[in-house]
Amino acid sequence: MLPTRPRITWLKNFRVTAAALGLVVALAGPAHAQNSNAVPNSPTPKQESAPANARLIWLRAEIARHDELYFKKNAPEISDAAYDSLKQELRQLEQAPANESSSVSELKSVPSVGDDRSGGFTSTVHRQPMLSLEKAYTEAELRAFIQRVERHTGSSKLNWVIEPKFDGLAISVTYENGRLVRAVTRGDGLQGDDVTENVSTIPGLPPTLPNGYPPVVELRGEVYIDYATFARLNVEREEAGDPPFTQPRNLAAGTLKLHDSREVARRHLSIVFYGLGAWEGSPAKPTTQQALHALVRDWHLPGVDSFKTAHTPEEIWAAVTRLERQRARLGFPTDGVVVKADDCAVQEALGVSAEAPRWAIAYKFPPERVSTRLRAITLQVGRTGIITPVAELDAVVIGGTKIERASLYNADAITRRDLRIGDWVYVEKAGEIIPVVVGPDASMRTSAVTPFEFPLRCPACEGKLVRNEGEATTRCVNRECPGQVKRRIEHYASPEAAGIKGLGPVAIAALVDGRKVKTIADLYRLRSDDLVNIGDVAESVAGQLIEQIEQSKKTRLPRLIYGLSIPGVGRAAAKEWAASFSHLAPWSAANRTALSNPDSLRSTPLEAFFSQQHNFMLIDDLLSLGVSPKTEEALQASGPLSGKTVVITGALPSWTRAEAKQHIEAAGGRVTEAVSRRTHLVVTGEGAGAKLAEARSLGIEILDEAELRKRLTQ
Ligand code: IVH
Repeated sequence: MLPTRPRITWLKNFRVTAAALGLVVALAGPAHAQNSNAVPNSPTPKQESAPANARLIWLRAEIARHDELYFKKNAPEISDAAYDSLKQELRQLEQAPANESSSVSELKSVPSVGDDRSGGFTSTVHRQPMLSLEKAYTEAELRAFIQRVERHTGSSKLNWVIEPKFDGLAISVTYENGRLVRAVTRGDGLQGDDVTENVSTIPGLPPTLPNGYPPVVELRGEVYIDYATFARLNVEREEAGDPPFTQPRNLAAGTLKLHDSREVARRHLSIVFYGLGAWEGSPAKPTTQQALHALVRDWHLPGVDSFKTAHTPEEIWAAVTRLERQRARLGFPTDGVVVKADDCAVQEALGVSAEAPRWAIAYKFPPERVSTRLRAITLQVGRTGIITPVAELDAVVIGGTKIERASLYNADAITRRDLRIGDWVYVEKAGEIIPVVVGPDASMRTSAVTPFEFPLRCPACEGKLVRNEGEATTRCVNRECPGQVKRRIEHYASPEAAGIKGLGPVAIAALVDGRKVKTIADLYRLRSDDLVNIGDVAESVAGQLIEQIEQSKKTRLPRLIYGLSIPGVGRAAAKEWAASFSHLAPWSAANRTALSNPDSLRSTPLEAFFSQQHNFMLIDDLLSLGVSPKTEEALQASGPLSGKTVVITGALPSWTRAEAKQHIEAAGGRVTEAVSRRTHLVVTGEGAGAKLAEARSLGIEILDEAELRKRLTQ
């Protein structure tokens, strides 16, 4: 059996030695960088007799450190499961007889809620505190909670509501006289960061309530990023040569705290409401949790659609397991379920402890965690030179997918986890998507393991690896490194860039290793002879491949710019730059003086690009070889929406209005605000109102986003 909840065994084996105490105290400081990841099974000092207070002090400091990393920096070092195990251990120690003074009562067993406030935002006091939830990790713990509530209420026929536990950031949204006036994060529970501007960008969050609202209502919910959006944003990150986001929850939290609401809008956060804070004035507030869900729907707010109801512990458990099975299909990240007494009178009778209501509990799904052998750590060289260490694992299946490799992100991530080659390691899927190596299984460690020394030289070119102070990433700075060159050529040939069909990684590797190609410009110097017996290119198709390369000279300008692998320039940015330059010729060396440091380029990725002579040489090379990308004007004249006037109304499922506008304009269309007889097309999304009706009455063609996308590629 694989230990999915190793903390339990760890707790049982826990001992404290005097020698370990020194280490414990040393580790308790805030700035340590050693083996402090506290993965439950990571090598924890073996400890004999028990000055449990020292462990208690360390646990409190360690939990505070992880709270800081999670809530403030959105950069957790350990998995939720590992964090929860620390908290559970702390709770057990606090309840132990020796620590009676700090023990908590039966229903008051929840530690502090952390503090997500991050500076740069106005701190605002909640009208009613935002509480946390007591947690259960096993069916038995959940049943014990239900029994406790039944005992306290004297009833075994309570109505229960079981909801998904959304994995995002708690939010309190205040509507005054039906208008959205404030959105505040939980903060320390009493006051949080005012993030109204960012929350207001969330599609589907109405600025006003329709009717039946009291003068003041604080709605409680969660801001999160759904899986589709997470995937889209990561494609964009990859395109820009940036390391991917690892977890939807952290991305949601990081996004909510951006000081750039345009970027927040572009990222497309989601929100859901599942609770109430303050409710002032009439009408009276809902009397059950189910009535609250109905009210949220009546107010056209995003609510919990997937909740279930139950009456007995058996029915509750059945609902929990059903939600766990449905989890992958829900489309948003969840880390458990929340079981709530439905009746508000019952809720009030039970009351709240210092930090959590006594009428609700969060049951956390066990992480799907498997253990496997870490065979090796290899280094991947990216097209911009970023070196990513990768765990090479004995193949295992998690959640139906075979996993053999997992990114280890950077050198620190390996050190923190104290991963050694040959270790048995726990592997989980972060946010159900990306495999992560949580940490080593210390109980399986033998003397045969070898610590990993981060190489000082690039595996592809032997060049010196560089890690700048204050940066987590290590880079190969040799621009001619064959590892980087291969990735750059692969990127240039990819369908989203120049789109050279038939030029795949095997042929590219052979061309680069055979020194026939060092830059993308060299592709245009190839003759069909050069491609014979190269990689997987058959002799019969060498001519066709040359033809494809030739055709790519006329690729669209945004694609060509994207294909240049300029750090920080993904597809969206490439389109913007293409629009403002409209041709590649202005980037030639002849314009170097004009391009060095004009204000419009300051602090943009192009500032760094134009500061390097070799980039001008590349552009000149491309131009002299006849690369003449289609300009925006040419595109607009010949684009699929050329000459069409388009109106966008309502929220589109994945594009923001600005993005849709950009696509339409790139295809030659013009976007206007009002629908008139001169409008050719109306693109509609959720919440479309009067403009849609107007379009219908004028008989104008109406498209949804999917139809628009099709039209753009015609
Ligand atoms: S009710 C009085 N319901 O989980 C506490 N919370 O770990 C109100 N969460 O602070 C919380 N989904 O941020 C509730 N369906 C749900 C939830 C939910 C996610 C979050 C919330 C809470 C945290 C506790």
